Order: sequence, then structure tokens, then C-alpha cells
Amino acid sequence: MKKNSKTQIGLGLAALGRPEYINIRTDNSIDKSEEAFKKNTFSVLNEAYKLGVRYFDTAPSYGKGEAFLQEWNDVNSHSDVVLGTKWGYTYVANWELGFEGKHEVKEHSLKKLVEQWQVSKQMLPKLKYYQVHSETFESGILENETVLNQLSQIKKETGLHIGITTSGSNQKEVIVAALKVSVENELLFDSFQVTYNIFEQSTFSILKAILKQGKKVIIKEALANGRVFQNENFQHYSEAYKILNQLSKKYEVGFDAIALRFVMDSLQPTYVLSGASNKLQLTQNLKALNFSFTLEELELLKASQVNPELYWTERGFLLWN
Ligand SMILES: NC(=O)c1ccc[n+]([C@@H]2O[C@H](COP(=O)([O-])OP(=O)(O)OC[C@H]3O[C@@H](n4cnc5c(N)ncnc54)[C@H](OP(=O)(O)O)[C@@H]3O)[C@@H](O)[C@H]2O)c1
Repeated sequence: MKKNSKTQIGLGLAALGRPEYINIRTDNSIDKSEEAFKKNTFSVLNEAYKLGVRYFDTAPSYGKGEAFLQEWNDVNSHSDVVLGTKWGYTYVANWELGFEGKHEVKEHSLKKLVEQWQVSKQMLPKLKYYQVHSETFESGILENETVLNQLSQIKKETGLHIGITTSGSNQKEVIVAALKVSVENELLFDSFQVTYNIFEQSTFSILKAILKQGKKVIIKEALANGRVFQNENFQHYSEAYKILNQLSKKYEVGFDAIALRFVMDSLQPTYVLSGASNKLQLTQNLKALNFSFTLEELELLKASQVNPELYWTERGFLLWN
């Protein structure tokens, strides 16, 4: 890892633990058997560790994501890895290719927390982050005292960072509300996994403030689910693609490394997640560690942000394949 970077790159398992996930790829010819996915996941995890990645993010809804990570962790016993998982979504697609309907079902109940914690806690003591998966006002969790008390209990017993993850055009409002939640006069949430990238920067100020308070910020979807790559279906990003192209030539890296470095240089979060689905993507993503932008370049990229409503409406139309 580059020594002078405040942000570490972590690896997320959303695209590794199940055969179908949000993306905009056109080539779908990979082997989608569970065996092939497990082999690929282990090779990506090994390569990541070899290249200096120490934080790994998963969730029960990432198919075999938790099981693969746990097995890899048990087999290798690396003393310095940090694991994070979530609770609140269940994977229901059952490795069925072309599964119609939602692949993951949300339930922010005490029953679901207790059920999923029984499995996830097996990742202790490497498990350090335990997050409410996709906190929203609608799920009512911020007012659900029994769930909040249970999370506080887990925090007391294990010392885990209890966090939330957010998605949607009101990420900022959800974070502000979560920051106020306390149990027995102690603030509950100390880690925030949030979408932030060149197109979606609406959480910039609140995340800066959170970091100043010493809380943890983990950035997901730094590549806007692949939308940062030049794509004729997204003409409204053509100005941004020009800038990405210019910088990618200058630094001799792909658009992915430019987008990841933007997160690191503009926000300096605790971690930014690579969502690489294979070793090649991972090595390309990690090139973000080898350079940094001038202030002028950063300003150019900052100007690529779009209205969050537009960003999230568009994300809602991306396919799972
Ligand atoms: N808490 C939550 O609700 C939540 C939601 C989303 C993500 N996350 C976490 O954040 C992590 C990262 O997010 P994400 O994967 O959803 O989004 P992302 O990082 O914006 O996009 C990742 C996708 O970009 C493509 N990609 C990456 N490097 C590439 C390269 N060099 N060349 C071509 N394509 C490349 C891959 O698509 P292909 O697979 O199509 O090749 C990959 O799946 C996840 O693994 C997960 O841990 C959490």
C-alpha cells in the first residue's frame, strides 16, 4: 500500500459470492458454477492480500460471500486482516441464473438480527465492522428500540464498530439521523458505509464531518457500478468521460483507478472498496495507490457530479446479470 495515502483500499465481495449482481457488462461468458466462483474468490482474496489489501467487506445477501470469506480466513489465519459484514438482507436467488424478482430481501427485525448474527459472529475475532445493511427511514430501525438495544449489546460484548450502510438520494439525511441514535446515553453508530463517487458526491460535507469526529467511513460503489467506464448508453456523462480519459492517459491507468483515486484524494475516507470480480480488475483497481491528483485535476473531477435523484433513479434501472 502507498505509505502516504490516508485511505486504504478494501475488497468487497458483492460480485464474488453469487453468480448475478448489478453491473453493466456485456460479456457474460464466465463459468457461473458455485465451484468456479469459490475458486475465483479464493484467488482474488489471495491476490488482494499479497498486494497489501487488509480490509474485506461482505454480507449475508452476497450469496456465499460470508462463507467464502470465513473459509479463506480460517485456512490462512492472517493475523492482520480486518473483516466487515452486515445484517438485514437475505439472499433468496438460490444460485438460480436469470432469477426473476429481487435477489435479496430486506428485513430489519430483531429476529433477522439474531438469526444472522449467529452466523456472522463466527468471523470473530477478525470481524471488526458490523453494519445495518441499507439503513432507511422506511425500515423503521432508527426507532426500533429492541433492535438498537441488541446492537448495543453486541457492541459491548465484542467491541465491534457498529455501523450503517446507506443507498439512495437521501443518504445524507439518513446519516444525520443515525448520528443522533444513542443507547444508554452512548452514541451507537461509529461506522458509515456510503456510496460516493465522481457522479454522486452529495454526502461529501457530512462524511468529512464524521471523519473529523474520529468515526470510520467506508466508501462503496466508487465506480458507480461500472458507469465510470466510457459507455454510449450514458451520454450525459460524456464530459466526465473526457476528463477521465485525459487523466487515465496522463497516469497510465484505467478509468477505474482514476475513479478510486478521486475518492481517496477528495474525501480521504478510512477505506474505499474495490468491487473487483476477478484478479485482473483487482490489479487494475489497485493502481489507484500509485499516484495522486493535482488540486486542479481534483476540481475538474468534482465538477462531474450530477443530481443525486438522477444518479439513483438511473442506478435503479441497472440490471442484475
Ligand atoms: N452496503 C451496501 O448496500 C452495498 C451496496 C453495494 C456495494 N457494497 C459494497 O461495495 C463493494 C463495491 O461496490 P460495487 O461492486 O457494488 O460497485 P463498484 O465498485 O462501483 O463497481 C464494481 C464493478 O465494476 C466493474 N469493474 C471493476 N474494476 C473493473 C475493471 N478494471 N475493468 C472493468 N470493470 C471493472 C466490475 O463489474 P463486472 O463484475 O461486471 O465486471 C465490478 O463488479 C461491494 O463489493 C460491496 O462490498 C455495499
